[in-house]
Amino acid sequence: MENTGKNILEYDTVALNEEGDAVVILDQTLLPGRTELVSLRTAQEIWNAIYLLQVRGAPAIGVAAALGIYVLSRGIETEEFETFYGTFREYKEYLNSARPTAVNLSWALDRMEQKALRAGREERRPVEEVKEILHQEALRIRQEDIEVCRKIGEYGLTLVKPGDGILTHCNAGQLATVKYGTATAPIYLGQERGYGFKVYADETRPLLQGARLTAYELSAAGVDVTLICDNMSASVMSRGLVQAVFVGCDRVAANGDVANKIGTSVVAAVANYYGVPMYVCAPTSTIDRNTPTGREIRIEERPPHEVTEMWYRERMAPEGIKVFNPAFDVTDHDLISGIVTEYGVARAPYEESLREIMGRKQRES
Ligand code: MRU
Repeated sequence: MENTGKNILEYDTVALNEEGDAVVILDQTLLPGRTELVSLRTAQEIWNAIYLLQVRGAPAIGVAAALGIYVLSRGIETEEFETFYGTFREYKEYLNSARPTAVNLSWALDRMEQKALRAGREERRPVEEVKEILHQEALRIRQEDIEVCRKIGEYGLTLVKPGDGILTHCNAGQLATVKYGTATAPIYLGQERGYGFKVYADETRPLLQGARLTAYELSAAGVDVTLICDNMSASVMSRGLVQAVFVGCDRVAANGDVANKIGTSVVAAVANYYGVPMYVCAPTSTIDRNTPTGREIRIEERPPHEVTEMWYRERMAPEGIKVFNPAFDVTDHDLISGIVTEYGVARAPYEESLREIMGRKQRES
């Protein structure tokens, strides 16, 4: 699709097409230069889109997987539930293998599986009805993401004041979710209410989500945003330009350790040194109480060419050089001032506060 002059925030990051037979994503690998929507119909197309980061960001990956497994379920031709479920499981495991760190991927797929099992095995509904239940559940997961991000924005906004400087890393913006983003939600709500924040966006090597996506979407919203290289956070913080750091996350362990885009832990250490509060914005779908600490979180490693060649006009490292390219790192809970969820802000000790937040979620849902 050609550029239409539409604001980037008017596009859906991830949605189901009208016929319900394709997941439509905004291809984030082409931004900000080109705006293209891509329709995904097969398991391999959905897997590739997640692996290649055409759709990315923990919540958006979860939504894409939920919509994706519904699309794939539609195509399973049988009237016998156990046969349907066997193929459903194969699709589920395949999609789940696309990226290991963001827990939202398995969270969304597990939620879809539970719906299928309840309807098909326990309630013995016909397969056609099970498919419709999966359809509704996938749309609900997508809709909930919007509401959850807005609530994170409201809680996040209580942590800052008008005119504050805010630093963010990677893209935990609208492009990483369905709307508002997580780390950017307080910024968007502040923008609606005239807070006049000054945002510093780290460029986020090696895939440049900060430069290509965060700087793009925030400036499209009229936010005062300044792009900095990853190694400049100490420079802006030492000058007193940053009053708070907001980042998103891919998995929160039970003790409050957080996996997020590589470089987040460096920002956290620098913020800690300069006395700047470090807030992690996390929908409860990103909290993984089955993982005790950050040490148990599996960190995705990506191919060397992302570091040595991608984005450069010519190769910028010697041929054959060894490259270490972990996509995420773990920030120790000691460096985190608060974890902002849709049920409030969790504070240390996180073991307790996260348990309390998950309990509240269970009681209210
Ligand atoms: O590799 P990416 O671009 O999917 O990594 C994204 C991040 O690390 C985000 O900060 C995280 O998923 C939160 S998005 C609301």
